[in-house]
Amino acid sequence: MTSEGAAQAPDRLDDDAGSETPESPTFDTSVAHIARVYDYWLGGKDNYAADRAAGDAALQAYPDLASSVRVNRAFLARVVRYLTTAGIRQFLDIGTGIPTSNNTHEVAQSVAQDSRVVYVDNDPIVLSHARALLTSSPQGATDYIDADLRDTDRILAEAARTLDFTRPIAIMLIAILHLIGDEDDPAAIVARLLDAVPPGSYLAISHVASDIEPEKMAEMRERLNRMVSQKGTYRTQAEVSSFFSGLELVRPGVVRIQEWRPDAELEAKRPAAMWGGIGYKR
Ligand SMILES: C[S@@+](CC[C@H](N)C(=O)[O-])C[C@H]1O[C@@H](n2cnc3c(N)ncnc32)[C@H](O)[C@@H]1O
Repeated sequence: MTSEGAAQAPDRLDDDAGSETPESPTFDTSVAHIARVYDYWLGGKDNYAADRAAGDAALQAYPDLASSVRVNRAFLARVVRYLTTAGIRQFLDIGTGIPTSNNTHEVAQSVAQDSRVVYVDNDPIVLSHARALLTSSPQGATDYIDADLRDTDRILAEAARTLDFTRPIAIMLIAILHLIGDEDDPAAIVARLLDAVPPGSYLAISHVASDIEPEKMAEMRERLNRMVSQKGTYRTQAEVSSFFSGLELVRPGVVRIQEWRPDAELEAKRPAAMWGGIGYKR
């Protein structure tokens, strides 16, 4: 599903469970899915009773979560602006989420209209909204791939329809790696993606922390893992930093996401329990 600059109307689902478009399979609304729970935390409308129940249980354990998800979206926008300003014109955004404001291509193309963005997610509800992600500027392009982060061969093969793998690419893993358990070897997944991109490319990560407000985060993780189909593995600053192995860390390194090049002093003080950073492949 590609868009070479063709603006299309956003595709909204009815609020009823199980709505379908020709592009979307039926999805199970009786079990919470992290894409819809995240949408609930962000104040979106694409969530169902099970998602809201899981979302509320997590908010009770960690009330600053409502701030944390917004701080994460602001981090994403700052990262994309940084990368585009640094000359990057190609983005591989894996774990896209349900479209919201400031999607990657919107931020990138507001700086450089010729930016090309490939989105990847494995949740049927995100697929059902994919058209909203394909509203590229005429000079750029967007594409959507329905795939699992663990299936790197498929992601790389399909992304090559839109991205030129001989030129630098920013790999965006924003709030997704904590949904990959250690049994799936997330470091090897990151390494396979990095092997496929040339020098001059970047890796951007944000990741839920296990060592910021550790008691609250442990309680939140336990509640979510009971109620949401995608299980979370929260990690320490050192564990998140290890995903950047072999890369040059862009200053200030792997830090609390609100402290990563904040636009304003107030922004740096907003609560969020996530680590984030950018690495450069020399
Ligand atoms: C917490 S949301 C983050 C959305 C967006 N990146 C952001 O930070 O605002 C995580 C997204 O990753 C997707 N996801 C989770 N596990 C995945 C996997 N194994 N492969 C592809 N997508 C996955 C979920 O469906 C969800 O849309």
